[in-house]
Amino acid sequence: MTDAVDAVETPTPRRKPKPEVTKIDGRKMKPSTLMMGHGYDPALSEGSLKAPIFLTSTFAFESAAAGKRHFEGITGLREGGAEGLVYSRFNGPNQEILEDRLAIWDGAEDSLCFSSGMTAICVMMMAYCSAGDVIVHSGPLYAASEGFVAKILAKFGVKYVDFPAGATREQFDDVLAKAKDMASENGGKVAMIYLESPGNPTNALVDIEMVRDARDAALPADCPIAIDNTFLGPLWQRPLEHGADIVCYSLTKYVGGHSDLVAGSIAGDKKWMNPVRMIRNTMGGIADPNTAWMLLRSLETVELRMQRAGENAEKVCAFLKQHPKVDGLGYLGMIEDDRQQDIYDRHCLGAGSTFSLFLKGGEEECFRFLDALKVAKLAVSLGGTETLASHPASMTHLSVAHGRRQELGITDSLVRISIGIEDPDDLIADFDQALDAV
Ligand SMILES: Cc1ncc(COP(=O)(O)O)c(C=O)c1O
Repeated sequence: MTDAVDAVETPTPRRKPKPEVTKIDGRKMKPSTLMMGHGYDPALSEGSLKAPIFLTSTFAFESAAAGKRHFEGITGLREGGAEGLVYSRFNGPNQEILEDRLAIWDGAEDSLCFSSGMTAICVMMMAYCSAGDVIVHSGPLYAASEGFVAKILAKFGVKYVDFPAGATREQFDDVLAKAKDMASENGGKVAMIYLESPGNPTNALVDIEMVRDARDAALPADCPIAIDNTFLGPLWQRPLEHGADIVCYSLTKYVGGHSDLVAGSIAGDKKWMNPVRMIRNTMGGIADPNTAWMLLRSLETVELRMQRAGENAEKVCAFLKQHPKVDGLGYLGMIEDDRQQDIYDRHCLGAGSTFSLFLKGGEEECFRFLDALKVAKLAVSLGGTETLASHPASMTHLSVAHGRRQELGITDSLVRISIGIEDPDDLIADFDQALDAV
């Protein structure tokens, strides 16, 4: 026997969850504040200040009738989805908190998290495309996104038309007309306009407002505009405010931010999320609870990390720009094209920290530069705390046909750099000595 209070006789009284506070005196709180607590009430988890990791595959129902009602929602027999947690392929507490917080950054009604950026993109496209349909997409795209459209969706009878990121309204109208013709020949519809802006790895920007106006003029409103915002989101570009319907992320990059997880997400109005949720419920692909928990931790510092990385990139690019061995930079803080600058001014809130460095020479010079780096790591990916450098033509974009790579500006002299949060002078010293080795 001990003096401890008998937990059976006098159990800890259950507390009601606190209502969400998102405003103080009518003033809407900023995302950076909401990242510390939104969507989680410690009272529901024994007072634990931070959300525990909920490692469970299934959730106990309050009653058989409640279980039936959940499944009516899950299977679509009743509007509105499940009213609670059912089974971990559908959702879990860590993922729900994450989805609530991700939606805040993009000013979205809803969000869905996935086990990778590619799972998010592929499941979303599958939700919207049927045999005979056509996807219109910008170029360049991340190679796996381009491959999914061109090689995998093609197996199911979905076709595509692509257009260069910098396209004008006139050019884009022609692309939509071609896509509509293709769709009617195939007995389908134009199912989705898919953008990546800035494009990986060239940083070419798409005019989202122009695309929205052209879509509204030529297509029914049930053809969504989706955009991969991985390079600038969630801090430096808010595409839903410029006419996109769905925003997609590789959370592996800036949001995760420490190069220690792989995950993805989409966000937008519930009406755009629901068809994707149905497919995710069937196929799986949701982020696991541990990864979701790590992302909650990452979201607490995402603004700080991105701000610092952005400031560092500005300093590093100022150094690289004047270096005699550098041929040019694809950095959004140093745009040389008027039309791209105009898109940047209307859409972007910062230049980011991922850019392309064009060295004088080709693959040999780039490899010498990459092999000489001492602080920056030679690895693909981006948006982490550490600076990374890679050679897209021979790595991330090797699967893109040579001719298409040239067309998109992914040349052998392009090194992609993602600047981290190290000391900027140390980074400059590193790039300086690596350029000496070229
Ligand atoms: C722009 C962009 N979109 C999507 C992805 C795919 O994300 P993940 O690797 O998380 O599947 C990447 C990965 O590099 C990317 O750079």
